[in-house]
Amino acid sequence: MTDMTETPTVAFPQSRTCPYHPPAAYAPLRDTRPLARARLYDGRLVWTVTGHGLARTLLADPRLSTDPTRPEFPATTERIARIRRRRTALLGVDDPEHRVQRRMMVPSFTLQRANALRPRIQRVVDERLDAMIAGGPPADLVTAFALPVPSMVICALLGVPYEDHDFFEEQSRRLLRGPTAEDSMDARARMEAYFDELIDRKQRQDAPGDGVLDELVHQRLAEGELDREGLIAMAIILLVAGHETTANMISLGTFTLLGHPERLAELRADPDLVPAAVEELLRMLSIADGLLRVAVEDIEVAGETIRAGDGVIFSTSVINRDEAVYPEPDTLDLHRPARHHVAFGFGIHQCLGQNLARAEMEIALRTLFGRLPGLRLAVPPEEIPFKPGDTIQGMLELPVTW
Ligand code: HEM
Repeated sequence: MTDMTETPTVAFPQSRTCPYHPPAAYAPLRDTRPLARARLYDGRLVWTVTGHGLARTLLADPRLSTDPTRPEFPATTERIARIRRRRTALLGVDDPEHRVQRRMMVPSFTLQRANALRPRIQRVVDERLDAMIAGGPPADLVTAFALPVPSMVICALLGVPYEDHDFFEEQSRRLLRGPTAEDSMDARARMEAYFDELIDRKQRQDAPGDGVLDELVHQRLAEGELDREGLIAMAIILLVAGHETTANMISLGTFTLLGHPERLAELRADPDLVPAAVEELLRMLSIADGLLRVAVEDIEVAGETIRAGDGVIFSTSVINRDEAVYPEPDTLDLHRPARHHVAFGFGIHQCLGQNLARAEMEIALRTLFGRLPGLRLAVPPEEIPFKPGDTIQGMLELPVTW
């Protein structure tokens, strides 16, 4: 491991001061590209990748592992350190095992599959907006819209009954945010028991349903390509990653656009800008900030040696504001080519659900702002609670009126 003790460092993670900008205290990280150092909660020093080019190089480097059960794998909070003894499917496994799992899932998450789901996503969005409009104004956009839309869509795609959403939304929240390690471990145990039973029910059905889990149960599990434990681990990551992340992007994306009235007017005047706006919001908001890796071999980069055993963190919020790639990076610019951001990661673990997430965000934002021309915050922006820095970024509540 590298001795990094005498270099100036920034504590990581820290909470944002404005929900759509990196924490002000990350300024030294932004000044130190492409590679800086950060200090974790336990005093450990880790490499922090801050340059866009280097991030893409290293995220594609097999000498960096995502396996959290490796003893030197970094943790950003004590809670995460205590729960990482179990590997998640896909994100927690390295090649060659990762390749096998990923190949199994890719056909269900192609651009074509996401596009084929668009009419269904549009129906879900319309229904949620009808209900929100009927019950308001005002409304909490998170509970009325941002959370139920991706939740309903991922349920339909996977073949999970949406009636169970209170249960799995609560367990996902506890898995990602605790607050204690016991909460997170209990949430995982409950999710495992839930899927164990759901798989039983699916096995008893003569004709499989049309969800991704039905396919996995009736083909991969039946043919022995996947064992039950592996299937449950896969179901958990797909369900959790499939709704929490997109929900945060919809709520935080709406908050950000409402805070930029000129950009919003531009978007309303030209709805064809929506896909570009989604990319720019993904870049600017970088809601998954702090991708974790451990080096399994020495790596020489940027004039430094990352030693085997060193922890490496990718601060996506800092990387996506590299001014060498994105001029005036703190400005929301719906016309910039933002597509090469790392908000979905890069390399073998690049987000499996990105096509689906893009389709959901486009339809949700276009329809929301199209149907509610008077949409605005119901309270001053500084009173709206947002999520702390040690989890996926987003709004805890978003009171709106119209
Ligand atoms: C806007 C919403 C989303 C964002 C910002 C996002 C972000 C990310 C990021 C940054 C990674 C890579 C993590 C790393 O390398 O350490 C990732 C991986 C992943 N995401 Fe997403 N995600 C989103 C939506 C979704 C959706 C809708 C799904 C649906 C199932 C999904 C499923 C996954 C899975 C399974 C992985 C692990 C892939 C692998 O290891 O091969 N995500 N996501």
